[in-house]
Amino acid sequence: MDRKFVFASLIYAVIGMSLGIFMAASQNHGQMVTHAHIMLAGFVVSFIYALCHKLWLGSSDNSLKQIQFYVHQIGVAVMSLGLFLLYGDLILPEAIEPILAVSSFFVLSGMIMMIILFIKSAKATQQA
Ligand code: HEM
Repeated sequence: MDRKFVFASLIYAVIGMSLGIFMAASQNHGQMVTHAHIMLAGFVVSFIYALCHKLWLGSSDNSLKQIQFYVHQIGVAVMSLGLFLLYGDLILPEAIEPILAVSSFFVLSGMIMMIILFIKSAKATQQA
């Protein structure tokens, strides 16, 4: 699971930096919020989850680990696309805001699931 998170994290970094370079080159910083969320929720948080798996959660695979991975990735992908459309004035705010709200709960749920994985791995370590 750690490798999947690292790979996703690096893909987000390339997308986010490309948007950053586009903003800098065009001198249109309208997508700053989108860039910031791709870099922080996509690149940084995904990399932190990779480290959690590598350093503490161990390599044993379970369904909650799979669900947590996809919940976070779906949340960040929908949030990034939604923010791009919103800050690019490519969609009406009232049309995208409910979708952005749901995506943010996905990202929050991914974080709560990571806490549960941590608690479960601590219990498993104690019993071992
Ligand atoms: C190729 C590298 C990058 C370029 C060209 C770039 C470009 C930009 C630009 C043009 C802005 C808007 C600045 C403004 O209008 O005030 C910005 C904001 C931001 N960038 Fe980047 N960026 C890069 C890498 C990163 C990285 C690696 C991160 C974090 C991991 C990051 C996080 C942010 C954040 C949080 C903001 C918002 C700052 C604020 O709210 O004032 N960026 N970036």
